[in-house]
Amino acid sequence: RMARGTDSASVLAQGGIAAAIGPGDSIESHVADTLVAGCGLNDVSRVRMLAAAAPAAIEWLQEQGVAFDHAEGTLKLGREGGHRFARIVHAGGDASGARISAALSAAVAVAAHVEWRSGVDVDALLMQGNRVSGVRINAGGHAESIPASAVVLATGGIGALFAHTTNPGGADGSGLALAMAAGAEVRDLEFVQFHPTALDLDRHSLPLITEALRGAGARLLDPNRKPIMEGLHALTDLAPRDVVARRVWQVRKQQGAVLLDARGLDIDWPQAFPTVLAACLRHGLDPRRKAIPVTAAAHFHMGGVHTDAVGRSSLAGLYAVGEVACNGLHGANRLASNSLLECVVAGRVLGAHLANCTDAEAVESAQRTMATGASLDADELDLLRDTLWRTAGPLRCGAGLAEGLRTLEPLLARGWQARLARQLMLAARQRTHSLGAHWREDCEDAATPAASIAA
Ligand code: SIN
Repeated sequence: RMARGTDSASVLAQGGIAAAIGPGDSIESHVADTLVAGCGLNDVSRVRMLAAAAPAAIEWLQEQGVAFDHAEGTLKLGREGGHRFARIVHAGGDASGARISAALSAAVAVAAHVEWRSGVDVDALLMQGNRVSGVRINAGGHAESIPASAVVLATGGIGALFAHTTNPGGADGSGLALAMAAGAEVRDLEFVQFHPTALDLDRHSLPLITEALRGAGARLLDPNRKPIMEGLHALTDLAPRDVVARRVWQVRKQQGAVLLDARGLDIDWPQAFPTVLAACLRHGLDPRRKAIPVTAAAHFHMGGVHTDAVGRSSLAGLYAVGEVACNGLHGANRLASNSLLECVVAGRVLGAHLANCTDAEAVESAQRTMATGASLDADELDLLRDTLWRTAGPLRCGAGLAEGLRTLEPLLARGWQARLARQLMLAARQRTHSLGAHWREDCEDAATPAASIAA
């Protein structure tokens, strides 16, 4: 009946959709690459389901009006980190998320069964016993209760809780916090993916420099122009994202800067990378002539509301889909361009389930509301972001996490963001070994970032 979410498609605006449709490729290869990136923490049946559904998802999107890029009459396939084959389809070069979002928004606008409410905030779930029975919305100070037999959270991730992120400000974990406040089970909260290449600017939300640029041949260099991934992984600059992000984080810390050199590539910039080109030019840098300064930045949350294959949470009546959900698909580290694919596949599975739902109960008036509560003020939020960045970033250790938890202590009663961050840090402290995107410097099996590398 209504939708409220962060603009998650813009987060992924440059990413494409992974599908094993190229020569020599197979569903099994896509599954295998996803499991390698996810370090085996993945639920294999979910991974198989996703990889198998990818070609049909692309066809369905084309039916909705998404014009994917073609070369010589067939879909053009690109490569990104962790993929052994070129299997990423894009629309408008690096503007895929925006193009998909535009096509689906246009379809929603004319769909008679969808009532779109924008400019509202969902600030509480309505409950009947342990069943979620609707939402309370807040529109400019005016509260309204909307009963519903099914509530679907599609609120995106938590990147905006970190000092530097590729996400927009709205990706602050509010949907996850709402589910937690209502008592829904969550899982894998410690697994946060850091993208290796965001434009290195002194601000919170950073323009993404798509991995597809490395797929097209761009190289990561230290300030002395030495390639930083050489000898660390067989896939060098296209190693799984966690491996590259840790290396970028480390080199930037030790040597002050990391550069992405895309000069001299044989690419049609305005056609293939219009988003990167525009972002760089906006900040006075022409990537065709100068190497791009990059930093790691919080990008994607593998953890979230624990859901089953359909999207059901542990609370009757509450569902979650996309980045806010965790159904085990991505494991400890998401493979590039699997998330936009997941949004389409999982969204359609859940939509079909709800359309035919026989388990929806009639909704009576709610007995109580479960709200996330007060929000941190701007200074408190800055402190929280800085704390998560320093202590729960790409390289973590027990002492740092303990210090971070102490710093957050006075904020716990002040705002829901602090309680959510605390849960993430507790999960990170509890997992005393390194796995995928969760890297503990203080563990015996984690001597150097390069040690994670299984070439
Ligand atoms: C990218 O284009 O590098 C990001 C896409 C993704 O996160 O899958």
